[in-house]
Amino acid sequence: MEKLYPESGVELNPFVSKHYDKLMNVLSFGKYKGFIHRAINDMHIQKSDHILDLGCGTGRNACLMMQYLNDKGSITGLDISDTMEIQFKKNCGKFPNTEFINRRIDQPFQSDKIYDKVFISFVLHGFPQYIRENIIKNAYNHLKPGGTFNILDFGEFDMHAMPFYYRIPFQKGECPYAFDFIERDLKKMLAEFGFGEFQEMLYFHNYGRLMIARKISGKE
Ligand SMILES: C[S@@+](CC[C@H](N)C(=O)[O-])C[C@H]1O[C@@H](n2cnc3c(N)ncnc32)[C@H](O)[C@@H]1O
Repeated sequence: MEKLYPESGVELNPFVSKHYDKLMNVLSFGKYKGFIHRAINDMHIQKSDHILDLGCGTGRNACLMMQYLNDKGSITGLDISDTMEIQFKKNCGKFPNTEFINRRIDQPFQSDKIYDKVFISFVLHGFPQYIRENIIKNAYNHLKPGGTFNILDFGEFDMHAMPFYYRIPFQKGECPYAFDFIERDLKKMLAEFGFGEFQEMLYFHNYGRLMIARKISGKE
């Protein structure tokens, strides 16, 4: 995978991509599974929703979301990693209403479909701010009016106030863009691009957050 942002921690190398789900389980001391189940449940997925998953990875999240959908609902996963594509297709192969598209989410793109929900999980923090803004615009442009952008990522917190046993792994494991992301006001950022009616769910001592933002104004 071509690395465009040298300091990014979400442009994964093939080894991390191949073992991504296992690494998440181990690094979270087995808590990742319960956390992701809770967060997806908190998205209030409707049975016939069409969901766009930006930086979908292995398809683990898509498979969980599929359990809330009937045969009218669908999930489209976008990612640029060939290793992730193989895993997504293997994991989600049993769900005919899932598709994987090899496409960059950091640049504007066209698609013939618009969605009820756009989901992005642990991807937005890993880019420079001007690229996050491109991703937010992409989410906005591919949502139906009234649709929601569901951002599961780090919350807003002061890294220096973390207990050392969280701070050290965070400082060692995350990229500089993540340190910048946790200091930003995500609601304000989203409001500038036409989102409102925010709902926030906090997890992991508030270090993780699901932000649900509704598309409310015509900014196309
Ligand atoms: C940290 S992983 C998160 C994967 C998944 N969303 C999850 O929560 O399990 C980041 C993902 O973003 C993908 N990615 C990174 N840069 C991307 C880009 N510019 N366009 C599309 N996908 C990208 C990576 O290949 C990887 O699958």
